[in-house]
Amino acid sequence: MNQIPPHPQIPISLTINGTLHELKVEPWVTLLDLLRERLSLTGTKKGCDQGQCGACTVLVDGKRVNSCLALAVSRDGAEITTIEGLAQNGELHPLQVAFIERDAFQCGYCTPGQICSAAGLLAEGHTRSRAEIREHMSGNLCRCGAYTNIADAVEDVLMPRIAAKEAAE
Ligand code: FES
Ligand code: FES
Repeated sequence: MNQIPPHPQIPISLTINGTLHELKVEPWVTLLDLLRERLSLTGTKKGCDQGQCGACTVLVDGKRVNSCLALAVSRDGAEITTIEGLAQNGELHPLQVAFIERDAFQCGYCTPGQICSAAGLLAEGHTRSRAEIREHMSGNLCRCGAYTNIADAVEDVLMPRIAAKEAAE
């Protein structure tokens, strides 16, 4: 009787929210499924699973990435930050505070991706206006239509940073 060959397992290492993980994964496993299904980091959401909605956005080496489109093996050695890793020392990230203060979620399903995307936007450093916030967050869909509140929240964090940078120059 023919035996079904075992699935190939590729060793990779990922630093996720500051913790090094040595893992073995099949080459077809996405970063999203690895995070959710194997590491129980379920804050990152699976929406469309095809790069259309942004619900799965995480930061990979500081840049925002749709984790549903990224094969885990292709990110070997990377630093990953998920929504679970944004709070530091028991303090919420300023974007998380702003989202709460601005009531920037309704069902909240898109919110982890929105906040991770906004964190990436802040790090990129080239967004300077509300119109640009909306443009540069346009890959993140919110079916509830909380866009105004989301833009308010991101603006609350971004604008003081721009003002502080200009004052220092
Ligand atoms: S789940 Fe990845 S973009 Fe929609
Ligand atoms: S709050 Fe974003 S989809 Fe509902």
